[in-house]
Amino acid sequence: MNRKKLELNYKEKIKLITKFNNYYFDKNESIISDKEYDDLKKEIILLENKYEFLKSKNSPSKSVGHKPSKNFKKANHKVPMLSLANAFSEEDLINFEKKITNFLSKKEGFIISYSAEPKIDGISASLTYKNGNLVRGLSRGDGKEGEDITKNLITIKDIPKKISSKDFPEEIDIRGEVFIQNSDFENLKDKFANARNAASGSLRQKNPEDTEKIPLKFIAYTFGFEKGLNVDNQFDYLKKLGSWGFKTNPLNKLISGIKNLIQNYNEIEKKRSNLDFDIDGIVYKVNDFNLQKRLGHVANAPRWAVAHKFSSNKAVSEIKDIEIQIGRTGALTPVAKIKPINIGGVQVSNATLHNEDEIIRKDIRVGDTVTVERAGDVIPHVVSVDILKRKNTSKKFIFPKKCPCGYETIKDFNKITKKFDSVRRCPDRGFECNRIAKEKLKHFVSKDAFNIDGFGKKIVEKFCELNFIKLPQDIFKLDYGKIEKLDGWGKLSVDNLRYSVDEKKSISLERFIYSLGIRHIGLENAKLLSRYFVSFQKFKTLPKKNNYNDLLNIDGIGETQLVSIKNFFSKDINLKILSELDKVLNIKNAKAPNTRGLLKDKSFLVTGKLNNISRAEVKSLIEENSGTTVSSVSKKLNYLITGEKPTKKKIESAKALKIKIIDQDEFLKMLNKTS
Ligand code: IVH
Repeated sequence: MNRKKLELNYKEKIKLITKFNNYYFDKNESIISDKEYDDLKKEIILLENKYEFLKSKNSPSKSVGHKPSKNFKKANHKVPMLSLANAFSEEDLINFEKKITNFLSKKEGFIISYSAEPKIDGISASLTYKNGNLVRGLSRGDGKEGEDITKNLITIKDIPKKISSKDFPEEIDIRGEVFIQNSDFENLKDKFANARNAASGSLRQKNPEDTEKIPLKFIAYTFGFEKGLNVDNQFDYLKKLGSWGFKTNPLNKLISGIKNLIQNYNEIEKKRSNLDFDIDGIVYKVNDFNLQKRLGHVANAPRWAVAHKFSSNKAVSEIKDIEIQIGRTGALTPVAKIKPINIGGVQVSNATLHNEDEIIRKDIRVGDTVTVERAGDVIPHVVSVDILKRKNTSKKFIFPKKCPCGYETIKDFNKITKKFDSVRRCPDRGFECNRIAKEKLKHFVSKDAFNIDGFGKKIVEKFCELNFIKLPQDIFKLDYGKIEKLDGWGKLSVDNLRYSVDEKKSISLERFIYSLGIRHIGLENAKLLSRYFVSFQKFKTLPKKNNYNDLLNIDGIGETQLVSIKNFFSKDINLKILSELDKVLNIKNAKAPNTRGLLKDKSFLVTGKLNNISRAEVKSLIEENSGTTVSSVSKKLNYLITGEKPTKKKIESAKALKIKIIDQDEFLKMLNKTS
């Protein structure tokens, strides 16, 4: 077929699929079977993969919305919806504040005001208003892309549909929590396990009339994208929300000092059981928006906020058995199988014992009566043993020295602490160890990695057991006919799974690298690597070029990460995985966040102490303005920024290489700023 004919044929198919989508989403009607729809979609994607010139904004490979078997279209959040880091103790709060003062390069004693807001346990939503009109409402989704649930959100009385206040921004995403009050939940108890599930279920009803029947509430607390918002701190923003007609939490307070945060926390915890809504902690947000902006965020949580979770619940139970679980990095984790107990409304039958040293230290044995603690959404753990209740016949627990795969386990030596790790691990055999492979696959499909809808841990377990999958590429070559024959699977669920898998065949390089589960390469490092390599092809050819040491120029990548990356590429099985995945996936090149900034194509290194600005902040400033930071003086360096007491050697090497040496003021001038 010549190019013209191909294009015509492709356009025909796009037209057809758009028509089906419109019927499905606008009229709630399917005019073809799911199978026919999937086949058409597959044909389009195949054509696109084969002929690069075939492109359409309506292609199912592009359009995030159109799912044949799901109820809602998807749409990107203009500004991502982040999550929050957790704090459980006074120590965690002290560390949180310390990190902030360090980042801002402030002296100890610098007073930070926080907006302290009870954390309602509901479902977050983002409401877009343009010129005072509510135009769209999205669910959080994966933080970057949410579901368009506008029609359902409109049924909520607390959500203003039109705002005519003069000071209301021209455009703004108002964000908050949708929830059900406990008194209203009483009538829904038979249908849902808890108020949160009830809120989530009601919000996602296909028919908005069903949503309307449920008394959902909305409390506003933050914003995403905005144009024309004239407020400079969080507490004033909360006040503005009230004046625009939104409900805000009546228990919000402006507080400074850790001691005062804790006093407020204790007071609210006491009131907790009398409140008509479930809260699971208090959110602290640095009040000043300027400081928030400077602090920015890591991976997917802001540096300027934390969720102080309410103290955990504890209960006493008995250890029935101790099992060893293998993590994806080969770590052996002992888990106590306990007599099931209810802790704070949740049935608990497993509790982690952390590692071998912990078992020895607490002398935990099978048959022991133990106190188990469950804090927030973290895995329950064994806190202590009641020795008095121990039977005479009880024996010390001997930690196995071998992995269930038969390999001798090891304990790594930590060069920094000069001690052996507490964790025993199966030497990193990756996908060669069946047990590790299963965990790696769970990571591969998980939320921050491929995020395959409906492909959870249980399905990975099941499919591994049945030998349907062993390596990541198997996920994209599943035999759906076989799955359909399994107990509990029907045509619809198989179609849904196939859809979810196909949908994720197009992935960013950053997520892809993270999903490989290379030890020490978390979200942040995956992002750094993806920016460095830009394309999958460059990433893949790293072992061929053998220029591993260049990775050390990436600020944030050190010896530990380097060894781990080398180890990953040294295994044939991993190279095979990469080439097989390359065949079935469309791995998108990394986008530099801003390539037209003032520091474009310039690299920097700081030596010595700067004034009122931390290294971390300098690094984010450079990156925000399209520059890069490196970790040593080399020909690749353009500017050496010097502060107080710089390293002499760095200055000498920079001089020898004729690298520009600048001070803090000169650096800030490059950004049109002054100190
Ligand atoms: S602020 C960047 N404020 O907590 C800040 N979140 O783990 C993120 N939440 O998904 C949101 N009350 O569902 C914020 N006053 C509050 C909140 C709150 C509850 C929830 C929200 C979010 C989750 C973050």
